[in-house]
Amino acid sequence: MKSDISIVILAAGKGSRMKSPKAKVLHTISGKEMLYHIIKESKKISDDISVVVAHQKEAVVAKMQSYFDDIHFVTQDAENFPGTGGAMKNVAPKNDKVLVLNGDMPLITAESLGGFFTLESDIIMSIFDLENPDGYGRVILDENRVIKIVEQKDATPSELKTTTVNAGIYAFKKSVLEKYIPLLSNANAQNEYYLTDVISMAREDGLKVSALLVDEEHFKGINSKLDLARAEEIMQERIKSAWMNAGVIMQLPQTIYIEEGVTFEGESIVENGCRITGNTLIASSHIKAHSVIEDSIVKDSDVGPLAHLRPASHIEGTHIGNFVEVKKSSLKGVKAGHLSYLGDAIIDEGTNIGAGTITCNYDGVKKYQTIIGKNVFVGSDTQLVAPVTIEDDVMIAAGTTVTSGKVEKGSLAISRTKLKTITDYYYRFFGKK
Ligand code: UD1
Ligand code: MG
Repeated sequence: MKSDISIVILAAGKGSRMKSPKAKVLHTISGKEMLYHIIKESKKISDDISVVVAHQKEAVVAKMQSYFDDIHFVTQDAENFPGTGGAMKNVAPKNDKVLVLNGDMPLITAESLGGFFTLESDIIMSIFDLENPDGYGRVILDENRVIKIVEQKDATPSELKTTTVNAGIYAFKKSVLEKYIPLLSNANAQNEYYLTDVISMAREDGLKVSALLVDEEHFKGINSKLDLARAEEIMQERIKSAWMNAGVIMQLPQTIYIEEGVTFEGESIVENGCRITGNTLIASSHIKAHSVIEDSIVKDSDVGPLAHLRPASHIEGTHIGNFVEVKKSSLKGVKAGHLSYLGDAIIDEGTNIGAGTITCNYDGVKKYQTIIGKNVFVGSDTQLVAPVTIEDDVMIAAGTTVTSGKVEKGSLAISRTKLKTITDYYYRFFGKK
């Protein structure tokens, strides 16, 4: 449902209340930057999207360009024209209708913006009522007609009591912006040019300003790390509900974290306490309690409880048990039931990895590969010093350190010191009790 509306996203502010060295719009929710979520939804509606940048401009632009290639970036002269009104000075939207979104509203969805398209007014602004309006601009109404927006820092004690607040999304006729943005003044508590002052100026000139009642669940502004955590809960609820509706079984879903970008196929089960991140794909698998899976592919397998699949792991038809860590490895038709580190490895069908097996993939300078063929039996507590290739049908005795670089098909590898037993040594050492 692309429309003939241009979208401007304000993302140039410092975000001082975040108390962070990172630009506010780059803080993440469900693994993706706030600004990413907003642009993603905006693209469903419009082909003309401008993002206003200034603070940490290079970082913001580079990150967004890694996802989207058709966004216009506009630089705000934040030194001379700070504030949301200053941010609008250099934008040149193509269409006659312009939707302006604050860059700190990551919960908006294309559907929730629907009400802003019927632009019979000169301005449509957005309001909601909050028990605790702290941080928001207060909307001063006269019998349901908007008079003005007063920022918290400029509000009188009686204005501060107003619980109707400005959500921070506006649809303007382009002509309205062209007329009033140059007329804004910075005579206020923050010495900033407020976009919100356009409302009262337009009202005084008799223009039609309407207020759309919106919900906090979609229009919450993120100013602090507390807001960020609350928004995360809402986003997680959305992501998990969508996957459950698509057929995924989740046990105690409120304890599960699934990032934007994760996909499921077939029927999978995710038990409580799991964390699944990046571009992970889970297909017809069972992820048991408290496992962590990052940027991996898991098909027809069971993983955990308490297993860790690090990036670039590809697991198919495989059993991964508790306390097994896998990194950048491919396991197909394998059993690795307990307590192992399998890094930079390729392991083939029918192979059993005994408890305590470690691929020694790093010599302190470089990383090396371990290749294990079909039907290999790796005994418990084996160390595979990489680079190493174990051919098909090999048996490795428990406690072996494989340093040979290669073990040939069909052989047994065993490295052990001969067991010595000394009768009654215990009693000689500790004495009899
Ligand atoms: C703003 C509104 C307030 C509203 C609230 C809703 C103004 C003056 N106030 O306040 O009425 O209730 O949003 O969430 O608009 N930005 C720039 N350049 C700047 C300053 C800010 O691009 O110079 C961007 C920020 O990156 C941010 C957005 O504008 O994404 C809003 O800025 P913020 O400082 O969060 O405004 P609020 O104080 O929340
Ligand atoms: Mg804000």
